[in-house]
Amino acid sequence: MRHLLADDDLSPAEQAHLLDLAASMKGAPHVRQPLAGPRSVALIFDKPTLRTQVSFGVGVADLGGHPLLIDGALAGIGVRESVADVARVLGRQVAAVVWRTYAQQRLEQMAEHAGVPVVNALTDDYHPCQLLADLLTIREHRGRLAGLTVAFVGDAACNMGNSWLLAGTTAGMHVRLSGPDGYVPGPDMFARADAIAAVTGGSAAVVPDAVAAVSGADVVVTDTWVSMGKEDEAAERERVFGPWSLTSELLAHADPQAVVLHCLPAYRGKEIAAEVLDGPRSVVWDEAENRLHVQKAVLAWLLEAAQQDA
Ligand code: CP
Repeated sequence: MRHLLADDDLSPAEQAHLLDLAASMKGAPHVRQPLAGPRSVALIFDKPTLRTQVSFGVGVADLGGHPLLIDGALAGIGVRESVADVARVLGRQVAAVVWRTYAQQRLEQMAEHAGVPVVNALTDDYHPCQLLADLLTIREHRGRLAGLTVAFVGDAACNMGNSWLLAGTTAGMHVRLSGPDGYVPGPDMFARADAIAAVTGGSAAVVPDAVAAVSGADVVVTDTWVSMGKEDEAAERERVFGPWSLTSELLAHADPQAVVLHCLPAYRGKEIAAEVLDGPRSVVWDEAENRLHVQKAVLAWLLEAAQQDA
């Protein structure tokens, strides 16, 4: 049974196939109906969300299915009963499980016991659906992925930093992470990215100086400084991350054709200046829309693989 739990669950060929499939489904949104019946997909959220619940809800309906929205707090997964028991119950009734939760291990337990495909809708460690949307958006605007340089500035010690390392190198990109000392992924994550890059021709590096990181970059990315669960540290984080704010002065060091990504929600005047987010280099609204198209491709691909396994 195939799942999408982390970015490096996908080989370079599979990632490219999913991006091609997403692009074709974007042009013909209702042609593929793998959930016709309708069959249901469980969409479980233990953390706040707008884009993810909307894009999966719309996407499941587009695929002919029924999106079953489950409030993680109400279900009490791992509290009222074990993740494994929840997985066994869901797997008897739904075609797939999409889950936004905290520890990656919870998602892995769900995948182990559900008997249906499981998709990571964000954990503390990874956000692979976001990265597929980001890659599709870059490909649309820059025409290719392999060989491009992406600079991620700000809080790189988060799921988006990890996912950029893994998915970016899978696409053959040169990934630069730039943040304060102590706010970049650990050596294990870089070892995984380096192993991928050795095959694809990409690279992964920490470039602490924000100007050096952004210099000549084809893509500049940032994300909130206060990820979910870090709200108590907000004041300290604003002080520490200030020099990595994506301002128009910083963006001026990038390639003149550079595109700016932000997975949203964004905080203007904090991690990104309003004139950058709302400016001509920003492709964030395409990026938000592309969540829909890539996730439909992921579900269609996983469901077809599950059918072949059956
Ligand atoms: N980018 C993203 O995952 O958005 P939500 O948190 O609103 O789902």
